[in-house]
Amino acid sequence: MDSDRQTTGHHRPLTQRVEGATAPTGRDWCRTSPATVGREVELDLIESALAGLRRREGRTVFLLGEAGIGKSRLADECARRAGVPVLRGRGSRSRAGIPFHPFAEALASRFRVGGPPQEKELAPYRPVLARLIPEWRRWYPAAVPGSLVDLGEALLRVLAVLGQDDGCLLVLEDLHDADSETVAVLEYLIDNLAGLPVMLLATMRPDPGSALDLLRAADRRRAATVADLQPLTEPQVVAIAAGYLGIPADEVPEPVVARLTEYGNGNPYLVEELLADLIGSGLLLRRHPAGWCTSGDLSTTFPATIVQFSGQRLDQLDPRVREDVLIAASLGTRFSLTVLQTVTGHDAPTLFAHLGSAAAAGLIVPDPASPDHYTFRHGFTAQALLAGISPAEHAALARHAATTLQQADPALPGSLCQLVAELRMAAADPTGAALLYAEAGNRALADGLPGTAVQLLERAQGLAAAADRTAVTESLVLALAEARRLDHAFALAETLPMAGATMLSTERRVALHTRLAWAAVVDEHRTHTVTQVAAARALLHDGGTPEQAAALMVIEGQLALLPGQEQPSFDPIRSAREAAETAERAGLPVLACQAWQLLATGPPRPPNSRPWRPGTPSTPTPSTSRGSSPLGLWLVVASHIKIPIWDTARTRRVTAQTRPTTR
Ligand SMILES: Nc1ncnc2c1ncn2[C@@H]1O[C@H](COP(=O)(O)OP(=O)(O)O)[C@@H](O)[C@H]1O
Ligand SMILES: [Mg+2]
Repeated sequence: MDSDRQTTGHHRPLTQRVEGATAPTGRDWCRTSPATVGREVELDLIESALAGLRRREGRTVFLLGEAGIGKSRLADECARRAGVPVLRGRGSRSRAGIPFHPFAEALASRFRVGGPPQEKELAPYRPVLARLIPEWRRWYPAAVPGSLVDLGEALLRVLAVLGQDDGCLLVLEDLHDADSETVAVLEYLIDNLAGLPVMLLATMRPDPGSALDLLRAADRRRAATVADLQPLTEPQVVAIAAGYLGIPADEVPEPVVARLTEYGNGNPYLVEELLADLIGSGLLLRRHPAGWCTSGDLSTTFPATIVQFSGQRLDQLDPRVREDVLIAASLGTRFSLTVLQTVTGHDAPTLFAHLGSAAAAGLIVPDPASPDHYTFRHGFTAQALLAGISPAEHAALARHAATTLQQADPALPGSLCQLVAELRMAAADPTGAALLYAEAGNRALADGLPGTAVQLLERAQGLAAAADRTAVTESLVLALAEARRLDHAFALAETLPMAGATMLSTERRVALHTRLAWAAVVDEHRTHTVTQVAAARALLHDGGTPEQAAALMVIEGQLALLPGQEQPSFDPIRSAREAAETAERAGLPVLACQAWQLLATGPPRPPNSRPWRPGTPSTPTPSTSRGSSPLGLWLVVASHIKIPIWDTARTRRVTAQTRPTTR
């Protein structure tokens, strides 16, 4: 693994200079939340166990939860609140070979300096206890091996003596890493605590093993209380960040909140690591005199500790499983089995065997919501795994996946299009990615999702090669108009090339101006409407095709309806009728709808008729009444199902479907 990555995280980000902001130095911020956030239920449980201690009601409380979820924090809180002698020991993988290590550590924390407790009633047990503490062997050289029960009993006696005034607290942490002898002695303690002034607080991860078996068994027979620590909620995550940064919660910068929510998994350790990494990479900066601000794209970095954490799990896998897990990671945090099978080419039994191994290693879990999908166990896992391989390996994986998927189905239906766009990006092929993002954007527009379409097309526009940029910009202008972001659409349309090989054809430019003019008139924006209609007309020779002329006529008719508009020089009713007929003849339902809409909402009457009031529908003639013709019906349908009125392909489909019932 690249050593730079190990120490500084993912790619070294390019940060921008931010006025009045500096990288924090020294102990400029807290590095952990000073206040314990949330965990009210667990703290109540701890309080009630401590209260029982004062009544000599011995009790065991287990804190169960994944790494970093906050077990030690609660154990610290318990020790701080206890107000009685505290002994602390912890299980440790590196010391797993040393029997009773957690107990030895706990006793040593209390007696190493002062020597063995001298109370008379402990005399028979001191040689047994000397087994645990090497320093005591000078007093008891003939430390007796003793049985597990002897040791358990000796520990209970010591604890009882220590707690004889107000009680005492034994904290044993990380028991998932403890040796099985420790677990056996622990079981003896748990079963014999009642009636002693001793509280036992034990923490562990839910890893399979003898400690978890003990916890479950004790829980079942109510010999212990188990608090299963769940991920923190989003507001709690923000509160931790606020405490960490030393600011009120509503001042945590929004991009930081988004990143912590996406990758923090409600896990305080991950939240702190992500914050430390953002600060260390210069993406989160101290703003003077107070507060924090972000600089640049926060997704360009990833904490090295998390990368290592995930990398260790990956390295324990069979190389073939490892490769499949990396391919899956390149497909995203949630991936489809069908897609993974296409990319890997495995038969189903092999694929499931590999996925089973990855699941057993705690990297992935089946998605309960969809049988064809798996997800990485944490939001960060996929990104962390990819950050742990070289950029070249990642690019090669992504290229292979993209090519295989495109060969398998060049149409890339549904979400595959965007997925392959992302793979092309990861494969350092921005031009290929741009075309696919543009395709996905155009599809979103056709599906009536202009917001999504704008996002995808903006991404495409930023990546497109010069030869593709005009077409992408054209689509983006249309999407912006559909999303009613007109100022942006007009400004972008201005940037389209007016000459040269990449210029749009006259027909497409007319269509674009006509579309913008319609958007402007719908938005009651007179000046823009006039400008766009004029731009379209300037491009048309002899007034253009009947369809082009009809489209502009409808817009001018709508313009004449706007409040305060002067009497038009043409007859809008006749124009609208002509436009509708032209549209029907040419099979352009969208245009026909616009024309019918103009007729239905009542264009101004000729000067000698009664004054028309905006908003008063004119009485349609029987042949034009809504719902009595396919197009009238389409108007009703369109207004109900919110299909973009410009989506001709879809409109044709819908009108085709409605026709049989209306003829
Ligand atoms: N509820 C909480 N409020 C504030 N900080 C927390 C909270 N829980 C955990 N932390 C912080 O998150 C980090 C990881 O918590 P820790 O207790 O060490 O996790 P665990 O022991 O479960 O692995 C620590 O820095 C801790 O202070
Ligand atoms: Mg801990």
